[in-house]
Amino acid sequence: MKEVVKEILFDSKQIEDCCTRLAKEIDRDYAEKTPLLVGLLKGSVPFMADLIKRIETDITIDFMGVSSYVGTESSGEVTIVKDLEISVKGLDIIIVEDIIDTGRTIKAVRDCLLRRGANSVKVVTLLDKPERRVVTLIPDYNGFVIPNVFVIGYGIDFNQKYRNLPYVGVMKEEYYQ
Ligand code: IMP
Ligand code: MG
Repeated sequence: MKEVVKEILFDSKQIEDCCTRLAKEIDRDYAEKTPLLVGLLKGSVPFMADLIKRIETDITIDFMGVSSYVGTESSGEVTIVKDLEISVKGLDIIIVEDIIDTGRTIKAVRDCLLRRGANSVKVVTLLDKPERRVVTLIPDYNGFVIPNVFVIGYGIDFNQKYRNLPYVGVMKEEYYQ
């Protein structure tokens, strides 16, 4: 285990099982459709990869880069730093996110995709930290609900590091305070 990690919350087996469950939920709801899964860079990359391999219904994928975080605090401002390659008009979209905290990022992306004419926009997240929510947002597909702790690993970073850990762990407070 990395020195900065206090405790492992979810190991790779638990995450894989979770992806299987979420993929089944998506298959059930989108059997007759071909949804576009939009992964939010960079945190969603491992989750996106594990999730899509388990989805059986036809899908397409694309990525969007949005930034809202500096260090451990959400700035509240959401900026698109990399946009989608295709028009979303009329498409059924599932936003793929690593973790929902205040909810501002997902709300901003969802509103943007709806404004651009998406037919529907749902949200799948690996982790949900509902205690810190400042906007009304309930993910349609939710991996794990976690308490208000700062986590790293499996795509989730602290100052861009630790995304490559194969598990989700709680970061020791002394490393970010
Ligand atoms: P929100 O807009 O506050 O919901 O922020 C969501 C984004 O904040 C996520 O995509 C992560 O990039 C980041 N984030 C939220 N919680 C954590 C955490 O515990 N560790 C690392 N990044 C986090
Ligand atoms: Mg993120």
